[in-house]
Amino acid sequence: MKNIFYFYKGRVALYAILKAFGLKKNEIVIIPAYTCIVAVYPIKHLGLVPNYADIDIETYNSPLKEYIKTYNEICASGKKDKIKAIIIQHTYGNMNNETKDICNWAKKNNLFVIEDCAHININDYGFDKPGSFADASFYSSQWNKPFTTGLGGIAVMNNVKFVNKLKEIHKIALNPGIIESILLMFEYLFYKIFFSPHFFWFFKKILNYLSDRGLLVGSSTEQELKGKYIKDYLKKMGIIQKLLFFLEKKKSKLTYPKRIKLMKCYDRLLTENNIRAFKYTKGSILLRYPIFVKNKNEILQKAEKNKIEIGDWFNCPLHPHGSNVDGLNFNINKYPNSNEASLKVINLPLHNKINIKRAEKIVKFIRLNKL
Ligand SMILES: Cc1ncc(COP(=O)(O)O)c(C=O)c1O
Repeated sequence: MKNIFYFYKGRVALYAILKAFGLKKNEIVIIPAYTCIVAVYPIKHLGLVPNYADIDIETYNSPLKEYIKTYNEICASGKKDKIKAIIIQHTYGNMNNETKDICNWAKKNNLFVIEDCAHININDYGFDKPGSFADASFYSSQWNKPFTTGLGGIAVMNNVKFVNKLKEIHKIALNPGIIESILLMFEYLFYKIFFSPHFFWFFKKILNYLSDRGLLVGSSTEQELKGKYIKDYLKKMGIIQKLLFFLEKKKSKLTYPKRIKLMKCYDRLLTENNIRAFKYTKGSILLRYPIFVKNKNEILQKAEKNKIEIGDWFNCPLHPHGSNVDGLNFNINKYPNSNEASLKVINLPLHNKINIKRAEKIVKFIRLNKL
């Protein structure tokens, strides 16, 4: 399609979209307070100011009332004219069930809307589906996303007035180097062949170790998590990644029935074990299955020891821990639900290498260790 552009990462796609809208220095973008920090840095890199909307503690998405609250606070500080855009996120693949209302409200207030579909499969894009309501949306094909090409980001411009601008920006974006692309392809093959839920924690450690030492192409460099604008940030998706993208995209649709079966299996197993099941929006195909526990850190530590795959994101409201929040205008005390979710929510895997037996083992482990 003419309005789809392929970038190096999801965050780069967001950067390009914001640039295409022509936002000016010090203008404000409202973003959920429970997200990955790399989705906030592009706002800062463009000289814009992030403000935040807290989430609903049941859905992990930001409801309309939280956008309005933040909007009103900014207006009260005399900066109404600076508010230009909002970002709606479908966390864990759970569709924000207020998307239409939020878009209508934003339209009335002359705000651009961007949907962060990093946790949504791009196969689901289409009329009345996540990603199609807003002015623009972006997707990710990074390691732990609905399907992976190693790294990858896709920008979809729905607002026809800005398609050409995004096209121009994509044109000047750099191509990734050949060595980088080949390395990424080997990482992809290694992941496909060797990754198993049993080795999840081992993989995580090895990947972090090698990536910190610049020995493989990781998701985020150390410099990036320090909030620095890294050289050659605006990059396209490489040719190898693009080929993998079309291959994986097609294949990933075939995994839907299994994913839905696993979601239902978790619903049932959790309920049977007196653990609160997640009430996702109807029609959502989740990326990960979030559950609320009081002893998150303890469970994660035990899971690592017992080789049980359990995810920690988001481990702080602007994930991950230890990243640099300077210049991001973030005050953790203002977003109690985002903070609580980051302290108490773990997530269960739904990817292709999980089967019912493994799901049962994970839920049994949680039942035995949850406070
Ligand atoms: C909600 C959310 N948005 C955006 C991103 C950025 O995607 P990418 O890693 O492809 O830049 C992530 C990252 O993992 C994410 O979790």
